[in-house]
Amino acid sequence: EKNGYAHFMLKEIYEQPRAVRDTLAGRLCNASGVIELPEINVSPETFQSAQRVLIASCGTSWHAGLAAKFLLERMARIPVEVDYASEFRYRDPLVSGSDIGLLISQSGETADTLAAQAEMIAKGSQTVAICNVVGAALTRKAVGTITTNAGPEIGVASTKAFTAQLAALLAFSLYAAQSRGTMTPEEIQALSQDLLKLPALMETALRSCQPVCESLAEIFANASDFLFLGRGIHYPIALEGALKLKEISYVHAEGYPAGEMKHGPNALVDETLPVVCVATKDIHDPTSVLKYEKTLSNIQEVTARGGRVIAIAVEGDNEIAKLVEHTIYVPQAREVLLPLIEVIPLQLLAYHIAVKRGCDVDQPRNLAKSVTVE
Ligand code: F6R
Repeated sequence: EKNGYAHFMLKEIYEQPRAVRDTLAGRLCNASGVIELPEINVSPETFQSAQRVLIASCGTSWHAGLAAKFLLERMARIPVEVDYASEFRYRDPLVSGSDIGLLISQSGETADTLAAQAEMIAKGSQTVAICNVVGAALTRKAVGTITTNAGPEIGVASTKAFTAQLAALLAFSLYAAQSRGTMTPEEIQALSQDLLKLPALMETALRSCQPVCESLAEIFANASDFLFLGRGIHYPIALEGALKLKEISYVHAEGYPAGEMKHGPNALVDETLPVVCVATKDIHDPTSVLKYEKTLSNIQEVTARGGRVIAIAVEGDNEIAKLVEHTIYVPQAREVLLPLIEVIPLQLLAYHIAVKRGCDVDQPRNLAKSVTVE
């Protein structure tokens, strides 16, 4: 069943372009250029009058939620709050009928996420699920569901479910933007077109990153700690890179917003510390470029202290390679699409480090695929 791959995780990493393509299929612009998402059962009017979107999820699905905050606030100009599902109901959260609840879960059976959904519903909010399992508990309480068509995920570490969630969240954000009139039909059409090209860019990233990640794993397999940095929408991806490494290789790793380094973590930096920095940019987007430049200064702060930086950068960025020890290149894309591409080298790096360390990649110790206790 592994189709010739050594592990399910690797097979699932390679399935991502297909998972994203299948999740987007039928959900982007139709011939008349309109996004239709009837399965969520949320009308354009509800999106217009909504005050907030409240997101709750766990682990990798929480990282997708953090990325969705950037997508929804930017594209649909609606305030978004993101909570760990396990924390949500313990602070008597403020929820009202004008909030749209959004629960993200691969399994749809995570007890914490179900409890957060119950809290939202009890307080009068409608909930929408993003879920990879048709008919799962989460979807039965939701008014509507976007099913991620990643297919069954066997590896305990989530990979294709994550990128499929990001794809579903992009479709959700496009629909919200269309409903709220915050993007023009031309902008929606153009982004939809670029989304259709995304799986091909992910294929390219898989091909080009694989050998680089394998040789970097050789170099860094014995490191005892890693930092992962990113800024803006790249910060949740840094968190995801750190989580992948922790869970399958048992190496301590932390994700941090790049700009927070000088507020404490720089004290950790020495010549033994690998620092993986997501430093991609959308060269056509001035805010993205500005953010990238700030991230470059953060990288220089790390290298000045001897830290060993591995940068994830877009093809054509030849400057960054002069500043850092290693660069992993990924294809250029729009800012909101880069997360689905740049996470690929982080997954591959974690995978190869775990293999080099002799870990059980598909069945890491102490973890279960679906966490059905609170
Ligand atoms: C990480 C991982 C977990 C899950 C989390 C939520 O690789 O798999 O962190 O993401 O337990 O699970 P779901 O998405 O099923 O609610």
